[in-house]
Amino acid sequence: MLKAVILVGGPLKGTRFRPLSLDTPKPLFPVAGLPMIQHHIEACSRVPGLKEILILGYYPANDLAQFVSDMAQKYNIGIRYLQEFTALGTAGGLYHFRDQIRFGNPEGFFVFNGDVCADFPLEQMLQYHKSQGNSVITIMATETNKEQALNYGCIARHPKLGHMTHYVEKPSTFVSPLINCGIYFCSTDFFDVLASVFKEKLNNAPSDGVLPKDSGAMQLEQDVFTPLAGSGQASVFVSTRWWSQLKSAGAAVYANRHYLELYKNTHPERLSSGKNIIGDVFIDASAIVHPSSVIGPNVSIGPGANVGPGVRLKDALVLDGASIGSHTIVMHSIVGKNVRIGSWARVEGTPCDPNPNKPFAQMDNLPLFNKDGRLNPSITVLGCSVIVPSEVIVLNSIVLPHKELTRSFKYEIIL
Ligand code: GDD
Ligand code: GTP
Repeated sequence: MLKAVILVGGPLKGTRFRPLSLDTPKPLFPVAGLPMIQHHIEACSRVPGLKEILILGYYPANDLAQFVSDMAQKYNIGIRYLQEFTALGTAGGLYHFRDQIRFGNPEGFFVFNGDVCADFPLEQMLQYHKSQGNSVITIMATETNKEQALNYGCIARHPKLGHMTHYVEKPSTFVSPLINCGIYFCSTDFFDVLASVFKEKLNNAPSDGVLPKDSGAMQLEQDVFTPLAGSGQASVFVSTRWWSQLKSAGAAVYANRHYLELYKNTHPERLSSGKNIIGDVFIDASAIVHPSSVIGPNVSIGPGANVGPGVRLKDALVLDGASIGSHTIVMHSIVGKNVRIGSWARVEGTPCDPNPNKPFAQMDNLPLFNKDGRLNPSITVLGCSVIVPSEVIVLNSIVLPHKELTRSFKYEIIL
């Protein structure tokens, strides 16, 4: 029997995802019509013998309760949310809930960062882990270029044995082009490693008898992987399939395209077709889309959304209950929940996809502002319940929730 753990963090995380994470917990933000972590759950449900998924985070349990019960029913798999009393870090929660994870004697368990998206090669990774003999953990890695590798955990791998020989989290100078994807397979022996790291942390704590507040917190990356490197107990599985982080709104538009593309093989019934549908498009069954509007490629339209006649949508996510008036165009943008856009309006952003001319490029996570204090070109985001009047242009801007625009905007954050 196998299990899986998804690390979802909590309300203090996902800051780069604002304003979209203000009204929806980031792990539930829909990409290609499904909450972000439903893609992880779906990948797990395809692994034979995987019987239980534990979602670990410090969101209030109520925020995820409905989602968890929907998932358990849909995939016929055990799914529970385990709430950390405080942010325990990427390893602290695993250690804290070790008895729940070990319960039922699983052979091992997958661990996922909730904010990555991928064509998850789980069965291949499992086979690889089994072939690695003594390893207590197998880390999925992918290759990127020298500059971008610095934004990730960097791994040196023994070319023949496949062991991790060195690990540095977000180094300041180049270490290796192989980066940690935030996807792991662990044997239950991994808890012995966590226990010894935890004990060492306690031994190093101040000896005044009072434990520091964050004494339960541990990071897989810094506290566990760095000492584990070179021990022969950690292996590295290199994936060449699509993988990306989901840190920013722009990343969601990019992830949407890839997940829609994967549906062609896994769930072709989720893709829409028709005279005015171009490329891969997901339209929720309860959305109303006028047949004269031209949709796609790379568009997802959520439940209850309404798209009027003559509308053009391209590289866009339209969330639940949003309405788009006639002859409006929306490109490279996210239209938040219950947003209302009038007629003949133009909402447009700039894509921030990986540079296709650079081999192994990942997305650049540019800072919000450039040196001149102007917004860097990025996708346009309309926060929930924003109102955009007719005949207005919103270009490369971020509009915070509930704002009613009265004129056109470009390169601005509208508070
Ligand atoms: N349960 C729980 N508790 N989850 C947490 C906590 C916590 O206290 N802190 C972070 N997480 C979750 C986040 O929600 C996210 O899914 C994941 O753990 C990692 O989050 P970060 O700590 O923000 O790290 P990162 O995303 O910058 O970098 C990590 O992921 C990269 C790949 O995307 C590292 O693992 C890097 O090495 C890696 O390259
Ligand atoms: P290229 O073929 O890439 O040169 O694009 P384009 O110049 O046709 O237009 P653009 O990339 O700006 O827009 C993409 C699609 O949206 C095109 O198919 C246009 O027909 C359509 N479009 C562009 N502007 C508008 C508009 O203001 N309203 C509507 N309804 N559709 C528009």
